[in-house]
Formats: sequence, C-alpha cells, structure tokens
Amino acid sequence: MSNAKNEIRLFAPATVANVSCGFDVLGFCLDSIGDEMVVRKTGKKGIFITKIEGYDLPYVASLNVAGVSALAMYATLDIDYGFEIEIYKRIKPGSGVGSSAASAVGSVYGMNELMGGPFNKVQLTTFAMKGEALASQCEHADNLAPAIFGGFTLVKSVQPMDILQIPSPSDVFATIIHPQIEIKTADSRAILPKVVALSDAIVQWANVGSLVHALHTSDYELMRRSLKDVIVEPYRSKLIPFYHEVKDAALQAGALGAGIAGSGPSIFALSKGKDTALKVQDAMRALYATTAIPFETYVSKINTQGIKIL
Ligand code: HSE
Repeated sequence: MSNAKNEIRLFAPATVANVSCGFDVLGFCLDSIGDEMVVRKTGKKGIFITKIEGYDLPYVASLNVAGVSALAMYATLDIDYGFEIEIYKRIKPGSGVGSSAASAVGSVYGMNELMGGPFNKVQLTTFAMKGEALASQCEHADNLAPAIFGGFTLVKSVQPMDILQIPSPSDVFATIIHPQIEIKTADSRAILPKVVALSDAIVQWANVGSLVHALHTSDYELMRRSLKDVIVEPYRSKLIPFYHEVKDAALQAGALGAGIAGSGPSIFALSKGKDTALKVQDAMRALYATTAIPFETYVSKINTQGIKIL
C-alpha cells in the first residue's frame, strides 16, 4: 500500500498552553520536541491504529486520542477507503507540553494531506478537539491551535472555532523543565475553582491583553510584566514539587517570565535570546538536581510553522 501518494510522515510538535495568564486560550508551539506519525491510506474502510512506539497507549481507535480525532473527521467523509495511523510517541503523556494535542492533530492533518486538503486549519482544529476531549474530558484548543498553526495563538472561541495567530518575536526562546511525574489534565482541571473573584479577573485579563500587545510590538519588558497568573497557578502549583523554587531560579537567571506548562508538571520560561534561555535551563537544572526527582530540560525557539510533513 505504501507509496508517496498513499502515505505521509509527520512531525507533530509539542506545545505550551495557557502561557501563564491565558488559561485555555493562549498557547505557543515548540520546535525541538514532538512526535512522529505516519498516516496511510488503506483499502479497508475505517480508522486503524497499526503501530505505537514510545508509550503504552490504546490501539482501539475510539479509545486513542489520535483515533478519536481521526474518527471525527472520517464521519464527515464519503469515501471507500480508510486510514492506518502509526504513532512514534516522544512526548510523554501527562507531561504538560501537549502530548495528546500532538497525537490528535497528527492524524487529522495527515488524512487531510492525503486527501488533497479538503479541510482548512480551523476545521482540522475542530476535529482534533474531539481527541483532546478524550484526554482531558473537556473541549479546549489551546494546545491544538499552536500545533496546527505554529507560533503563538489565541483561541478566541471554540464554538464556533475562532483562532487568532499572534506574532512570535524572533528573539523569544522557551526553556522547559519536565519533572518525570505524571499529572493528568482531567485531575488538574478538577482542582480549579468554578468561579473567580472579579479583582483577580481584572488582573488576569489585563495581563492577557498586555501580553498579546507585547508579542505584537516585540516589547520584551511588557512581556516580563504580563507573564503572570493569579487565577490558576495558586491551585496547580501545589501539584508540582519545587514549583516556586524553579520559577524563582528561572526569573533570577533572567527569564522574562515562567509558569506552569499547560496543566503541568512541566514548567516553562520565556527569555529574550537563546543565551538567556540556556542560562535559565542551567538554573532550573541546578535547582532540580538537589531534589530526588528525575527531570528533563529543553531549550526551544518558537516554532512558527507548526505541524509539518517530513
Ligand atoms: N488549558 C489546558 C489546561 C491545557 O490548562 O487544562 C492542558 O490541556
């Protein structure tokens, strides 16, 4: 079955959702971390997960994030063939850097390419959100949008899907530390309050607005003043060992800001320039090396392309 027309290999990137102040709406795409996936046409109708490497995940399409998003798209099609999906998982599930989003996006992007691109990126995000919902028990697109569009994105609404691409200043670099513990998104959503104080909401929406403005104008000092989260961080930081110590170390090393990557446990920092991002990485490593918890770190430029064909 496999020739160039029937098969496609993809890089599905990791992403950081929330970006401190923008819970469920802001996100950015990473360059150096991601999964590989192969999507292939098959004569048999349906969606089939035929290979998974890296982590132990379900092969039944309706139980697999990549399978569910693929099925959501497939249900809208009138075709006499199906698709096989291979997943080479490098992003640990439950790491906070969009593992489920990468899988959800990879299958629908690959199918769309093999069919000649009948769907646009907004439609792909809508299909992928069905897969994301399987993992987090909630429909949100703040990891999916940057994985598909690249760069920084703002999900203005999911119903109808409305996504804004925000400029990524070329000097912004991300540093990530991933403590090797798992936090399920559903669990870290369950601990959040259902209502927030108006005084906190005012601070938060001022920060979202100013962060978006800072990205448009490459105003790094405004980014520094905006990368703050007074609503979600106080709850979720309790789930992440040494969170405040790592954040302080990153800020002291020169980061513009630091926060919880998505629903954690990864912690991200944004810096101006790669040298500072590397210093931030050293500071995060030095701090975590004093704990008994294994960890990994990454430095990445902002990936403005998003998912791509290999
Ligand atoms: N916005 C989501 C959350 C991202 O923080 O729960 C994680 O999937």
